[in-house]
Amino acid sequence: MIICPVCNKKMVKIDRKYICEGNHNFDISKYGHVNLLLSNQKNSKIPGDNKEMVLSRKNYLEKGYYEGISNGVNEIILNSIKNKEVKILDIGCGEGYYTNRLKEKLDESNIKNQIIGIDISKEAIVSAAKSYKSIEWIVASASSLPIENESLDFIICMFAKIIPEEKMRTLKKGGKLIVVSTGENHLLQLKEVVYDSVRKEFYSPVEDLKLFNHLETINIKYETEILEKESIENLFNMTPYRWRSPQKGVEKLFALNKLKTIVEVNIDIFEKN
Ligand SMILES: C[S@@+](CC[C@H](N)C(=O)[O-])C[C@H]1O[C@@H](n2cnc3c(N)ncnc32)[C@H](O)[C@@H]1O
Repeated sequence: MIICPVCNKKMVKIDRKYICEGNHNFDISKYGHVNLLLSNQKNSKIPGDNKEMVLSRKNYLEKGYYEGISNGVNEIILNSIKNKEVKILDIGCGEGYYTNRLKEKLDESNIKNQIIGIDISKEAIVSAAKSYKSIEWIVASASSLPIENESLDFIICMFAKIIPEEKMRTLKKGGKLIVVSTGENHLLQLKEVVYDSVRKEFYSPVEDLKLFNHLETINIKYETEILEKESIENLFNMTPYRWRSPQKGVEKLFALNKLKTIVEVNIDIFEKN
């Protein structure tokens, strides 16, 4: 399933290396991941989420506040499995919280599976590889996936960049693309603390994914109460708000001991015809 980023030929794992038929080889790190991101595929010197964002996301997610999102995605995938064995790619997988919960659910349900997590951030993949050993973790870009044509049953893309062409190339016919994006009221109460006025808006991926057949949008919405000061900071620091918020609002947020807020996401299910 994994192909060489240089010549696109198939790769095999031999000892601590991935080697392709064209003899290009890539070391598997001591944590178990492989870096297949070529220097000309980098969009910046240190692409993707930085160490601080990765750590904030990991610490926040491990508290379980987004378990409802993970359960929703797992249920959709479990209900759509047709084959005895499934091949799944999580693109922009971050530090692997959702990828790992999916793997656990499939194993628990005795569904044979091969799961790959790809992220352009080396920090994210190192964190994932340190924590979760039964998933294949790869540093690579969503715009040039080191994955064979038509080899995947499912692609998951959670709060990450949408690049339709590569998803179309790597999915099998009849394969499903699951896109998770924030809903209209997501973290509304957090935003109300930080900003003087809050605009309700959300992104729908349907327009950008016209290549695919859109099957359904499933909305997940629940209220959660964040009970630790540290988790409130972690949540804020893992979102894009950290780059564009007024200092006064951030101070107000970080002074809170707890925060009740709405979690709302849309899960869009697409199929490759
Ligand atoms: C908002 S985070 C979501 C992480 C994870 N899916 C989650 O929901 O916890 C977006 C992730 O996409 C990654 N990313 C950004 N651009 C990317 C690209 N071109 N290819 C692959 N990953 C990318 C970032 O490094 C980051 O880990």
